[in-house]
Amino acid sequence: MSTTPSPATYANRQWFYTQRPTGRVGPEHYTLVDSTLDATLSTNEVIVRARTISVDPYMRIQQHARNTYDVPHPLGIVQRAGIVGQVVTSNSSQFAEGDWVLGYTGWQLFAKCHANDLQKLDPARAPVNTALGVLGMPGRTAWFGLMEAGRPKPGETLVVSGAAGAVGSLVAQFGKRAGCKVVGIAGGPDKCRYLLETLGLDGAVDYRAHTDTAALQAEIQRQTGGVDVYFDNVGGRVTDAVIPLIKRRARIVICGTIAQYDGGLDKPDMGPRFLQHMLYERATIQGILARDYVHRMDEMRTIIEPWVQSHSIVFDETIVDGFEQLPHALNMLFEGRNTGKLLVAV
Ligand SMILES: NC(=O)c1ccc[n+]([C@@H]2O[C@H](COP(=O)([O-])OP(=O)(O)OC[C@H]3O[C@@H](n4cnc5c(N)ncnc54)[C@H](OP(=O)(O)O)[C@@H]3O)[C@@H](O)[C@H]2O)c1
Repeated sequence: MSTTPSPATYANRQWFYTQRPTGRVGPEHYTLVDSTLDATLSTNEVIVRARTISVDPYMRIQQHARNTYDVPHPLGIVQRAGIVGQVVTSNSSQFAEGDWVLGYTGWQLFAKCHANDLQKLDPARAPVNTALGVLGMPGRTAWFGLMEAGRPKPGETLVVSGAAGAVGSLVAQFGKRAGCKVVGIAGGPDKCRYLLETLGLDGAVDYRAHTDTAALQAEIQRQTGGVDVYFDNVGGRVTDAVIPLIKRRARIVICGTIAQYDGGLDKPDMGPRFLQHMLYERATIQGILARDYVHRMDEMRTIIEPWVQSHSIVFDETIVDGFEQLPHALNMLFEGRNTGKLLVAV
């Protein structure tokens, strides 16, 4: 319950999603609105001040006009997003002023929420931003996607695309822990150095250095000798290069196809047809979605939180400063300007 008098209103800032992009998303597809939030609360309501707001590739999927795994994000409402924030006014016995919470209140500074829609975070257990990364949706995707669909075994070779990003960097480390030889694919020499020196992977392939798919494939073959598990975060020509390299009973995990999000989802896939390789190698391919594992968060936390606490896992963040930067930050994902989880401090 609130102990100090609360203001009657809060000066809010909100980013409304107002125009569907056809190609790359940018600030022109959003409208910044200054508004006032009435602080009057019903029973079990609280007001949360966002401190860190997430930008994620799925936002761009949901901007397509047709249904994907979800209905399109409506125009004219605040961009939906996960946030970590603090309770500033509470009319709930579950929350006190100052409590850290995880919510899904979107790109706005203040939000009025029902207590049941928030999850309390304990900063003594883990840095609060990890609720948007390694101990949140990206961590859940990486953990269950790799362990349940990828089924890695010691001695196998795991290839991860988008390996320096939020999901990919975790998949790669989970693969090392499972005893795999892990080769990451990422864009540029700095990210490849990061994969080798910071994440301790066995190999790193810079897909940008090989504009020709055959040359990219030759380099992946040289570093892997063949692929038992392919965890795919990007799709497109990187995946075209990897799939012909699969070994007997390989598992291909389709987590994301970011190379196709800014316009490509509306066109038919025109890459090489790879089903012959699935046949020859008796391979399996499985799509995975984070939302299918929400009910197993406790199971994931029990395993991964101790690694976070002992710093035996790398969970880097790229932090962009300023609420005004949110649409620009979303765009950064498509330009590869993040290492680890991309977040916006507000
Ligand atoms: N299935 C699920 O439930 C689920 C959940 C979370 C995420 N995902 C998917 O997983 C993928 C990674 O998500 P994330 O949140 O971890 O993002 P992220 O990897 O932290 O950031 C996106 C990265 O994608 C790479 N990229 C962008 N455009 C590319 C292109 N044309 N070709 C190759 N790489 C490109 C960039 O890295 P480089 O510099 O290396 O190019 C960029 O840093 C996305 O496809 C996302 O949609 C799926």
